[in-house]
Amino acid sequence: MDRNVEDYLWWRDGVIYHAYLRSFADSNGDGLGDLPGLIAHLDHLKGSPDSLDVDAIWISPFYPSPDKDFGYDVANYCDIDPRYGSLADFDRLIHEAHKRDLRVILDLVFNHTSDQHPWFLQSRSSRDNPKRDWYIWRDPRPGNRPPNNWQSVFGVKALEWDDQSQQYYLHHFLKVQPDLNWRNPEVRNALMKAVRFWLDRGTDGFRLDVFNLWFKHPDLPDNPRCLGIRPFERQRHIYDADQPEMRPALAEFRSILDDYSERTSVGEPAGRGHQPISSYCGQDQLHMIFNFKFSFCHWSPTAFLNVVRRWEQSLSNNCWPCFVLSNHDLSRHVTRYGGRNPDAIAKVAAALLLTLRGTPFLYYGEEIAMPNTRLRRNQIVDPPGIYYWPIYKGRDPARGPMQWDASIHAGFTTSTPWLPTHPDYRKQNVAAQLEDPYSVLNFYRSLIRLRRNSDALRKGSFRTLTKTSRQILSFIRETPQQQALVALNFTGRPAHLQLDDMLHSLNWDLALSSSPQAAAPRGREIKLGPYEASIFLSVN
Ligand code: NOJ
Repeated sequence: MDRNVEDYLWWRDGVIYHAYLRSFADSNGDGLGDLPGLIAHLDHLKGSPDSLDVDAIWISPFYPSPDKDFGYDVANYCDIDPRYGSLADFDRLIHEAHKRDLRVILDLVFNHTSDQHPWFLQSRSSRDNPKRDWYIWRDPRPGNRPPNNWQSVFGVKALEWDDQSQQYYLHHFLKVQPDLNWRNPEVRNALMKAVRFWLDRGTDGFRLDVFNLWFKHPDLPDNPRCLGIRPFERQRHIYDADQPEMRPALAEFRSILDDYSERTSVGEPAGRGHQPISSYCGQDQLHMIFNFKFSFCHWSPTAFLNVVRRWEQSLSNNCWPCFVLSNHDLSRHVTRYGGRNPDAIAKVAAALLLTLRGTPFLYYGEEIAMPNTRLRRNQIVDPPGIYYWPIYKGRDPARGPMQWDASIHAGFTTSTPWLPTHPDYRKQNVAAQLEDPYSVLNFYRSLIRLRRNSDALRKGSFRTLTKTSRQILSFIRETPQQQALVALNFTGRPAHLQLDDMLHSLNWDLALSSSPQAAAPRGREIKLGPYEASIFLSVN
């Protein structure tokens, strides 16, 4: 924690790092990242002079799982899959993380379980099993047709016939991920018990997987159709998402979090619901909601600015924004935008993410500008990638092993990693970038330090300076004590930013820049070199 800031709140003022556990660090040579591996690399995140100095880690699911959706098919909410470690390792992680003032956020996958979860095994075993109603079962429509037209996110129909018990069950993702019945109070109680289980072990917060799908309309009516590319996108999700029961359920979840001190939550909304997603954020709802709109932006200042402005407008005062450029479901942003200048563009994107109003979420590897890995068809293991190939190659390219150093498999594992290592790892890795003062990693470290030490960057209001520039994205963050001016040149050509009278009358110091030639503004103009990202602070 920043000892100079009295009201520093880790999840609001800090930076959160998404550690995709399977790919972060393997301690036992089975090719899969695990908890002891993560613990061994905590210094990269916090507590050593070389750390990034983030405030929290979000760990992707580590629960026992048949791994059909790489951990998002949970077979027991209150244990750890032995491939990732044990509960004792988890306790050690909490201890080691808290020792460094690093918080730990877990992933809660409460829309569905694995079909191997004992709850589903019982539910499926017979129609009169006491757990039958823990999942969503329906008879066929006349003519032996499926009960409705719903589609799963991963391609096939959302209702699957079960030969054993002669009914359909609902699954919004893979067939092996049956949806829970949130309308059954026993289900709710069991899930809330799991929340307390992890809170009691010292967990600091949760990321809620596709939370707005928890409730479905009780009659399961057909969804209206609309235009879209994949089958799931060709429906308006008015009956299978965003049902009115969501808000009371989130309020119950939030009241449990509030029984503990300084806990947080961030929701991952699914699809384009009909409810504004910002409405799930607030005092008796979630602390933050992911907004994935950056992932649809092309590399243009106006596109990014529009996302920020719309998000700022739609959030109520009780809502705290958060921003994300990449994650385990998206293509890495350096691959989306980087072209021939990946490092320069990675720095501009980092400067944007880390100076906006709201909590930045970093995806492991983005701090070294790790790109997607190109994979052949026979290297793909992600089910939607296999299903949609070659139109969509799935999520494996963005989930490759973390590149720690130039040793075999980038220092991630001593055996064959579960996904291939990026061929460039010998040049592009943490150890090499720590040695280079101009590396992307060192730029991230400076940005995080700057944000931590600047009142304006952590909690200042947000005001844009450029509205529709093709080159520059620029904005002011402001508190009564301090102004920060952020100027980002999105292009490879030099650019000029004009300051108005008010800004011109202030004294500006150059606080950080991606360009060694950058200087404090002279006169009314700020000159920006190609892909320059500069941040200026007002001096009184
Ligand atoms: C969203 C997760 O981010 C994704 O990885 C997963 O496949 C689906 N939810 C299903 O749990």
